[in-house]
Amino acid sequence: MALTFAAKLADIEEDEPLAIQLGDQHIALYLLDGKVYATHNVCTHQFALLSDGYMEDGCIECPLHQGKFDIRTGAAVCAPVTEPIRTYPVQVEGDSVMVDL
Ligand code: FES
Repeated sequence: MALTFAAKLADIEEDEPLAIQLGDQHIALYLLDGKVYATHNVCTHQFALLSDGYMEDGCIECPLHQGKFDIRTGAAVCAPVTEPIRTYPVQVEGDSVMVDL
């Protein structure tokens, strides 16, 4: 596991996705029921940043065509998305959110 510092825990708000970039990777961080999750931030349908979308019921809704992904598993749960989004393991160490790319 190669953990990389991603953000301070205090910078992630419940139900407000946070866009970050780690190297050339677009990542979205989410705080859901007190737990941090990370997904790739680019929709698998077309180019749109999921961090510009809305979190609801454990899903992130893409801002472009309203496809939805489960934040916890990356599963595509609502058309037009059919391909899952990549998820990344997250570890919180104190106030530091670490992501395994
Ligand atoms: Fe995300 Fe179309 S770009 S649903």
